[in-house]
Amino acid sequence: MNILLLGSGGREHALAWKMSQSHHCDTLLIAPGNAGTAAFGKNMPFGVNDFEAIKKCCIQEKIGMLVVGPEDPLVNGIYDFFQNDSLLQHITVVAPSKAAAQLEGSKAFSKKFMARQGIPTAAYAEFTEENYDEGKKYIAAHSLPVVLKADGLAAGKGVIIAQTTEEALQSFEEMILGKQFGEASRKVVVEAFLTGIEVSVFILTDGVDYQIIGHAKDYKRIGEGDTGLNTGGMGCVSPVPFMDAAFMQKVIDRIINPTVKGLAKENLNYHGFIFFGLMNTNGEPWVIEYNCRLGDPETEVVLPRLQTDLVSLFAAMDNGTLADTNINFDERSCATIMAVSGGYPGDYQKNKLIQGLESPINKDSIVFHAGTKIAENGVLTNGGRVLAITSYGATINEAVKKSKISMDQISFEGMYYRRDIGYEFQ
Ligand code: AMP
Ligand code: GLY
Repeated sequence: MNILLLGSGGREHALAWKMSQSHHCDTLLIAPGNAGTAAFGKNMPFGVNDFEAIKKCCIQEKIGMLVVGPEDPLVNGIYDFFQNDSLLQHITVVAPSKAAAQLEGSKAFSKKFMARQGIPTAAYAEFTEENYDEGKKYIAAHSLPVVLKADGLAAGKGVIIAQTTEEALQSFEEMILGKQFGEASRKVVVEAFLTGIEVSVFILTDGVDYQIIGHAKDYKRIGEGDTGLNTGGMGCVSPVPFMDAAFMQKVIDRIINPTVKGLAKENLNYHGFIFFGLMNTNGEPWVIEYNCRLGDPETEVVLPRLQTDLVSLFAAMDNGTLADTNINFDERSCATIMAVSGGYPGDYQKNKLIQGLESPINKDSIVFHAGTKIAENGVLTNGGRVLAITSYGATINEAVKKSKISMDQISFEGMYYRRDIGYEFQ
């Protein structure tokens, strides 16, 4: 089967790496891809939201499966676009419908869904310009810290954790009246702050059955010791030591099962991944957010541990046999460390030559490209997050050590990475 993969990050390099191992994968195309994905297939010169170009490519290249990496095309309705076109209907699309993608596309939608299905999540209220004054009163009376979330997609920047009422009111004004995130912050969700340790769980579902394909802990802050600004993710580890059988059973009973049952009950057509962003509060799981895709860099530790053929899993999802498939995991731990451009998550420069990519690295390490591109003189940086090095180890500690050794073989001007990924599990 010919497969088209949409996206250009480390997640997509990991997906390309994994899918290309399947004997069901003939030609792999990646749009737009990066310097790393080019080793597993052909990069295509169109973007993830260019549905007409995607359609043309699917017809010309006889694509049998579309795998969508990032959230934008999901929320923009790529699944419905394929279902409503007689030339594309036969293609297996790994994506939720536009209506179901609101679980990620609208925080207010996901909060209401969780309330209807009795899924544990922080108490909240939603506000727009129409009930702005009511919102100010709600915030003024709220305990601290208080969490403000732009309703729509805001490229990971739409969440503010305010430590003071003043700061919360100012952010509320900027979001709603100042239209800080445009249409995305027309509506704002104000919610209670949850304390604990975050963990992400990933499932693949056909809207009836599901399989858990892994979990991970992400390190979001730029600085060591979890300090400084939030980023897209600076590293991940899997498995997470506190995800024992008892905690996982609570996640299954209270969160995963009611979510999948809720999708069916509410006729939300779903054929894809669900990323449960969870908080472990004294051993009890709460949902912070849903995403309709895999995480980045979570994918860079989840897929290396998944031994099951991913393309077969997608086919099982499509033909209703997901419940009959076996999922196997590599027993070893995985850690990934992200190298970023100097200045990220603020302003940074691109087009820096990456050195050391050709030298042999530890057999237990894999270099996943994120923001990279191929040029005449070699591979250049092309984004804030540049590459992630994943390693296997008997323990998280050992995996992190191997990734750091491999990382030290690679360099580019301004390169930075956190040396303390997995610090609390040492
Ligand atoms: P999100 O964009 O929803 O992933 O939120 C970004 C980050 O903000 C999350 O990964 C958490 O670290 C934090 N966060 C969001 N909501 C809450 C909450 N209710 N309590 C504590 N932290 C939160
Ligand atoms: N690493 C967090 C995310 O992919 O949303």
